[in-house]
Parts: sequence; C-alpha cells; structure tokens
Amino acid sequence: MTEYVEIFEVGPRDGLQNEKAQIPTAAKVALVDCLSGGGFRRIEVASFVSPKWVPQMADSAEVLAGITRASGVSYAALTPNMMGLERALAAKADEVAIFGSASEGFSKANINATIAESLERFRPVAEAARAAGVKVRGYVSCVTDCPYDGAVRPEAVARVAAELAAMGCYEISLGDTIGQGTPESIGAMLDAVLQVVPAGKLAGHYHDTAGRALANIEVSLDKGLRVFDAAVGGLGGCPYAPGAAGNVATEAVHAKLIELGYATGLKPEILETAGAMARAMRGM
Ligand code: HMG
Ligand code: MG
Repeated sequence: MTEYVEIFEVGPRDGLQNEKAQIPTAAKVALVDCLSGGGFRRIEVASFVSPKWVPQMADSAEVLAGITRASGVSYAALTPNMMGLERALAAKADEVAIFGSASEGFSKANINATIAESLERFRPVAEAARAAGVKVRGYVSCVTDCPYDGAVRPEAVARVAAELAAMGCYEISLGDTIGQGTPESIGAMLDAVLQVVPAGKLAGHYHDTAGRALANIEVSLDKGLRVFDAAVGGLGGCPYAPGAAGNVATEAVHAKLIELGYATGLKPEILETAGAMARAMRGM
C-alpha cells in the first residue's frame, strides 16, 4: 500500500500573520472553509498572541467562530502563554501549540523570553490544555540558523525538543524559520533530535527562502519523518524573523510527495483554488 505522508496546513496562520495590511476576517474564513474540503486532517487557523505584537492575528476568535468546521479536521491555534490558552479554549480551538526557539536571539525577539523562561511559561499552558482535553503541539524555531545568533547547534534543538516532548506535546514541529537550512544541516539537526524524540513525533516546518525546502523535506523523509507543515500559495514568514520569505507551498510539497510515490489524501484542485485565494489576500 502507498505510504501516507501528512501535510499540516499552516497557511491561514503562518502564511497570513506577516501581512501588513489587515485582511478582512471574512476572507480568512473563506480560505479556511476552502481548505476544509481539501483533505487535510489539521489546519492551523488562529494565533492567540498579543495583538500588539501581531495585529494580523487579532481576529483569531472571530475566524474560529466564523468557519464551518468539517468533521475529521482539527483546527489549531498558537498559544504563547496562559492568556493565549484561555482565549483559544474560549474560541474552541481543537488543538493548541506552544512555540519555542533553539536560539536565544530569536526567543527574545519573538516571545520576549529566554529559552529557559519560555519553557517555564509553556509548562502550565501544556498542563492546562491537557486537563481541558485539548492536544498540544510544540514548535522549535531556528533549528539550523537564527537571524540574530547565526548557526544553531543541533544539540540546542534536541534539548528544546526533548523538553517540549516531556511536557506532553504530541508532536514537535522543527522550524527552519528563515529558510537557510541545507540538506546537510537539516540532516545533522535531525540526527541529534532523533536521539531524544522518535521520528513519529516529529514534523518538518521548512521555509523556502533559499529554495531548499523540498530538498530538506526529502532528507527528512529519509530520516523517517512523515509530517510536514506547509502553507497554500507559499505565503508567509515571521514578523520577528527579518528576511524570512514564504513557507514552502502546500502545492509544491504535495506534488513532490506524489512524485516520490507517497499518498497525501489531498485534492490538487482545492489546493490550487486555496493557493490563488491566499495569494490574492496579499496587500488586501
Ligand atoms: P510581553 O510584552 O512580554 O507580554 O509579550 P506581557 O505578558 O508583558 O503582556 C504585555 C501585553 O500583552 C499586556 O497587555 C497583555 O495583556 C498582552 P497591556 O497590559 O499592555 O494592554 N498579552 C496578550 N494579549 C492577548 N493574547 C495574549 C497575550 N499575552 C499578553 N496571549 C508575548 C509576550 C508572548 C505575549 C508576545 O511576545 C507575543 O505575543 N509574541 C508572539 C509573536 C508571534 O506571534 N510570532 C509569530 C509566531 S511564531 C512563528 O511564526 C514561528 C513558527 O511558524 C515556526 C517557525 O517557522 O519556526 C511557529
Ligand atoms: Mg513558520
């Protein structure tokens, strides 16, 4: 039987969060509703961060209230702290994500905390989410390169990934936040992380800034990873990672996986439509 590889769609969150002009809530809802028919199991649609830090995500509760939820799809939200979790639970996010960094510079710039402080902040969030019956995903950013600190050591990634797994994160997404990873640096990073977290609990989250995301996915497949984050239309970036261009496009990851002989369960015509919708939101 053809082996399944999951694409975790992060476009409505990671793809749109960096857009400067405020996108109408109705347009975000329409994008999510389109994606809901695309065959995804998980779609990240919201981010309960400070609206002063990321104004584009300020309407996350309205987005979750406005979408038509498809059965079998988990609608995910970022939650950096207890206030974020409370807002996500009130908005009935199906799962939440805590997001840390393997580099101190990005941790400070993105969530105003050292790595150690962030892990202490995440612990009660993970506990409270699990107590509420909501699954928690973990992100580690800057897994090979940091826009502030330069090259990141694989052991630093492994340490944060292990901490997040110990907090009960069901999956750890490894973010090449500024898209500077190479098959060599991604491979070395995975070798370190796989010492402490099994491949079945890892996802690759690669930005395509340097055009290497698909090559990085291939090396990750070789190491046993079977989940990859991607954004329709290849939109995105992080407001606190200067120079980070788009996420790898869902359409491109899908095409590559099919070429390699994997099944994704996704509908290419829906991906094309959603990709066009996402691109049209740029500068709305
Ligand atoms: P802070 O300023 O240190 O927080 O920010 P604070 O606790 O001192 O609070 C300051 C103000 O924010 C207060 O309001 C709080 O109420 C409010 P004020 O009294 O000034 O009016 N506040 C909140 N409001 C709404 N929801 C909340 C919340 N928390 C505090 N949850 C904080 C710390 C973490 C909040 C801030 O730094 C933040 O929101 N950062 C998020 C930045 C972000 O969203 N970055 C993009 C996502 S990460 C990413 O894209 C990478 C990823 O894709 C993987 C990869 O590619 O590597 C995941
Ligand atoms: Mg990202």
